Amino acid sequence: MTGPPLLAVRGISKRFGAVQALKDVDLEVRAGEVVALVGDNGAGKSTLIRVIAGVDPADKGVIEWEGRAVQIRTPRIAQRLGIATVYQNLALCDDLDVAENLFLGRERRCPGLRGRLFRLIDYGGMRREARGQLDEMGIRVPDVRAPVASLSGGQRQTVAICRALLGRPKAVLLDEPTAALGIRQAGHILDVVDELRERGIGVILISHNLGDVKAVADEAAVLRLGSNNGFFHVPTTSQEQIFSAVVGATGSP
Ligand SMILES: Nc1ncnc2c1ncn2[C@@H]1O[C@H](COP(=O)(O)OP(=O)(O)OP(=O)(O)O)[C@@H](O)[C@H]1O
Ligand SMILES: [Mg+2]
Repeated sequence: MTGPPLLAVRGISKRFGAVQALKDVDLEVRAGEVVALVGDNGAGKSTLIRVIAGVDPADKGVIEWEGRAVQIRTPRIAQRLGIATVYQNLALCDDLDVAENLFLGRERRCPGLRGRLFRLIDYGGMRREARGQLDEMGIRVPDVRAPVASLSGGQRQTVAICRALLGRPKAVLLDEPTAALGIRQAGHILDVVDELRERGIGVILISHNLGDVKAVADEAAVLRLGSNNGFFHVPTTSQEQIFSAVVGATGSP
């Protein structure tokens, strides 16, 4: 493939007090590519996602977006560029329904005076759009009026992904979207990831499940103790090879 990657991070370092969470980390993702980010607990995966998302900006290093160096100092900057993030701990409000969660923080006002003057929220419009968006992604949720508290883990995860997609991002960062799910629900999330790739979105997918990585990722980047420990072209790599890099049997000492 030619041209610059959609997103590249080069030489990223991040320290929290005494903990060097990331050390000189590189990562690239292209449009329409799924890159798995794997590594043991505490390897720095979520930290790297939060650096790219503008939540915890890096101490050192460069982020390039569509070939140009950018400074992502806030989540808003990341969103404006077209980077959407689904965090490890889902930020959904249990008391709100599916449609309200999708539009949280960007509620639609009613058209005309009712919206402009009385600031009335267009619940009907939000529900219709929510249903359309979910259908488009092949996501099944029993009812967009159901409170999120009543959904299963997998359904909650799909709502969170859907919420990330509303801004029509070019890159989507998913931090362990299948972690708490059963086999069927995890499979459904992987279908959604496939759909993102089909749409030409660049995906960074954190997963501890190397079976999932094999099933859905094009490339895998291993982090170990805050550093890169190998890049793999997934179709030509075995799960065992990736596992060896994760536990440190191969790669940097
Ligand atoms: N806000 C923070 N303050 C202090 N230390 C932090 C902070 N965030 C992360 N760390 C530390 O940085 C290191 C990397 O953490 P991170 O959450 O990125 O790991 P991870 O690879 O996502 O692990 P897991 O697989 O368990 O989610 C850990 O040692 C962690 O304790
Ligand atoms: Mg994590």
